[in-house]
Amino acid sequence: MLQLISVGLKKASAEVIVVPVCEDEKLFSEKEIETLVQQAKKLKEFKGKKSETITLYNLPNVKAKRVHFFGMGKGSEVKPETYRSMAGNCVQQFIKKGFSEILIAIPSASNKIIEIPIVLESILEGACLGNHIFDKYKKEKKNKPIKSIGLLTTPAIAKQYRQLPGRIKIICEGTILARNWVSTPPNDKKPEQFARAIVTKAKKEKLKVRVLNEKELKKLKLNALLAVAEGSRSSARLVLMEYGPANAKKTVTLVGKGVTFDSGGINLKPSGSLEDMKMDMAGAAAVAATMITIARLGLKTKVIGVIPIVENMPSGTATRPGDIIKSYAGKTVEIGNTDAEGRLILIDAISFAIKRYKPDTIIDLATLAGACVMALGEKIAGIFSHDDDLANALISSGGKTYERCWRLPLPDDYKELIKSDLADIKNLASSRWGGAITAALFLSEFAEVSSWAHIDIAGPAYSKKGNAYCPKGGTGFGVRLLCEWMKTA
Ligand code: BES
Ligand code: MN
Ligand code: ZN
Repeated sequence: MLQLISVGLKKASAEVIVVPVCEDEKLFSEKEIETLVQQAKKLKEFKGKKSETITLYNLPNVKAKRVHFFGMGKGSEVKPETYRSMAGNCVQQFIKKGFSEILIAIPSASNKIIEIPIVLESILEGACLGNHIFDKYKKEKKNKPIKSIGLLTTPAIAKQYRQLPGRIKIICEGTILARNWVSTPPNDKKPEQFARAIVTKAKKEKLKVRVLNEKELKKLKLNALLAVAEGSRSSARLVLMEYGPANAKKTVTLVGKGVTFDSGGINLKPSGSLEDMKMDMAGAAAVAATMITIARLGLKTKVIGVIPIVENMPSGTATRPGDIIKSYAGKTVEIGNTDAEGRLILIDAISFAIKRYKPDTIIDLATLAGACVMALGEKIAGIFSHDDDLANALISSGGKTYERCWRLPLPDDYKELIKSDLADIKNLASSRWGGAITAALFLSEFAEVSSWAHIDIAGPAYSKKGNAYCPKGGTGFGVRLLCEWMKTA
């Protein structure tokens, strides 16, 4: 349960109350809370510096047994992400301690720095996202998520924003859905299974969903998509999800790369590069989860999800380097490297989306290039688009949700690098440099719409270490960003 509560400390019951504290500014106008803060700050070991914490027990005039003070650092440096992290951090700590009921006191005097709904949203989000445990594959479930999370605030604010927890919960559940799909081991999400899992979730919402199987894909000639699946015992799928009014003025299409395991194919990846390649369907997971989330939120935009799903494996039937295939759009592609499979399944999905749905805007999400991780590291996505407005809007949405994106160029002259001697285009660039760009340029040759953006999430889709509000594994990167962007689309 996630809710806004307004009761005094004398009556507020929980196993612990969290109080955020700045080192230099008062965050609370309520005297009863500020008195506690001053009491905590009298101690040598707590001054409210960033990430400093102290727990005090059995405080006078406080019903809850514990008050946990959390350092936020300097007031001027507090950002929405500081609140998100604070909430997630506390929730993850309390899960380990076995708590089931917690309260977080909402700063009331900080509206000067960040507007109150943003503070509420950030704390709700951090708490909800931090309250996620992926233990499906553990016999013994050591930890349980916290049952009840309450945000302590004034009666006026609790009333004004009473709808907020419900909305944030839906968005966080969408993010967690994507995370869980990404974290699922590859033997349990073969293309057919993953497609079915999406359908099962989608059927519960106001979404039209269809899955094209191998036979149908062959008939339609999505040969680039099919070529990647050739080496696997599991055949390809294309999931189509439709949401929104048929008479809408604008159509947005989201495309997500769904490689349930990327071994590299005949160009087999070396050990060290294989172990996490179950995450190569994170784009698909983000798109499917976003579709489900916007349906639950009841957004007004018409949105189509197009999700190609395959497993990239080496075998006697696998596609070879040197093979030439005819893509759905009709252009021939020379396979230079079977490990550059993402772009193959995406071009057919994009071409199919354009032909079938005539969208105004296409956004694709894909764990496309290791080179993008080289360029931007593990936490920032690369964004490619000829459309400045779209790129800026996506970057700005990502800024709000702290799913950071950085724009990279699509230089015309680099197209030289993906020319083929024998076919119309090659899936491997002739230079080893600028791999994220040449991958995006390859897609751009097929993205023939007025507005297209490609988001390379190879870095941020998966977290080996986890963070304040995301455990190790899939991160659900993209879901919150896209939901935020949809508000403006
Ligand atoms: N799925 C990988 C990209 C990737 C790498 C995602 C690391 C997440 C972490 C993609 O299919 C791939 O293998 N790309 C190759 C392309 C190369 C063969 C041109 C790469 O990045 O090395
Ligand atoms: Mn690959
Ligand atoms: Zn891949």
